[in-house]
Amino acid sequence: MAAYKTLDGMEAAGKTALVRVDLNVPMQDGKVSDFTRIERVAPTVRELAEKGAKVVLLSHFGRPKGQVVPEMSLAAVADAMASHLDMNIAFGKDCIGSNAQSIIDDLDNGGVALLENVRYHAGEEKNDPGFASELAKLGDLYVNDAFSCSHRAHASTEALAHLLPAYAGRNMEAELKALSAALEAPERPVIAIVGGAKISTKLDLLFNLIEKVDHLVIGGGMANTFLNAKGVDVGASLCEHDLAETAKEILTKAETVGCSVFLQSDAVLAKEFKAGAVNRTAPVSDVAGDEMILDMGSTSAEKLKSTLASCKTLIWNGPLGAFEIEPFGTGTFTVAEEAAKLTQAGKLVSVAGGGDTVSALAKAGVSDSFTYISTAGGAFLEWMEGKELPGVKALGN
Ligand code: 3PG
Ligand code: MG
Repeated sequence: MAAYKTLDGMEAAGKTALVRVDLNVPMQDGKVSDFTRIERVAPTVRELAEKGAKVVLLSHFGRPKGQVVPEMSLAAVADAMASHLDMNIAFGKDCIGSNAQSIIDDLDNGGVALLENVRYHAGEEKNDPGFASELAKLGDLYVNDAFSCSHRAHASTEALAHLLPAYAGRNMEAELKALSAALEAPERPVIAIVGGAKISTKLDLLFNLIEKVDHLVIGGGMANTFLNAKGVDVGASLCEHDLAETAKEILTKAETVGCSVFLQSDAVLAKEFKAGAVNRTAPVSDVAGDEMILDMGSTSAEKLKSTLASCKTLIWNGPLGAFEIEPFGTGTFTVAEEAAKLTQAGKLVSVAGGGDTVSALAKAGVSDSFTYISTAGGAFLEWMEGKELPGVKALGN
């Protein structure tokens, strides 16, 4: 990873810092329903304000595709953020031009403003140099605190970093440190847990991980594709039958590079995909034609716990079963609790990320017990795929 500047020693007094944050937060009935992303950027905002900068926040919200879509305004987020962090936050109705400039002119040093959705302008997603220079005109310094947007080569994440002195914010710094501790220079053995519905979206990730980790656990719906490839009849389970050859290729490659692949040997089976469905636990060789695999079985979960206990680093993306519906979260929760316990005992570095994973871990009640939980979805996946993220690369000096 390229070296980047941090806020350490940054001279910001009297300067305007444009800070790219990810305020693409979940909303329900017009209200912010999860404040994690807001809380994660607070240290950077406060630190810059304490240094005496005018702090100008830039973010996208939703995918308005270059149009002004009123439902995708950041105005409500500005209010919610201000009250949640107990801070005055001015709101600018546009992120460029005279309106943005006058909001900034009105700020005192140490004041904070949030400007309207950068994706209201088509130039944002095009990484347009003209739009980036309109943004750059507003500030003296650029801080990227949005790791979760850094897989996008957009004007506010990429081009802008080349136009002003560029820094990684505290949240970005924490993400990069945690992620590199897990995959770039980890303590071994390293175990990766990859779950979720389909392998079709995670092929690059699986091919990259087998080169880097000692144990690869494949769980969730995607495990069925691997079991099927190994000749197991998975009944009515979710399964990408057309990817059997690819699955075999992954297993062969893993063997060649000495990465052990963990697939469940028993599973929780049900005929209906609904909460409280009648279910049974059986070996995977025993799935009936009308049954679905909905969770990892308890024998497999126990075996996975003991493998976990022999490891020093865990990287986790994707649940092991249909955790959203009772009682099919048991496999995920049991393993999550063990990972949390080992982490708290100082025996394991545990890093997790991805939307589903974060909610599964929250449901397991272990969110505060992992070493690091990334708020990034797509960026976390691309990073696990071994890709260089344009927004991170642009911070390199
Ligand atoms: C996210 O929510 O994962 C980020 O804000 C990126 O959003 P995007 O997928 O619309 O680029
Ligand atoms: Mg200027």
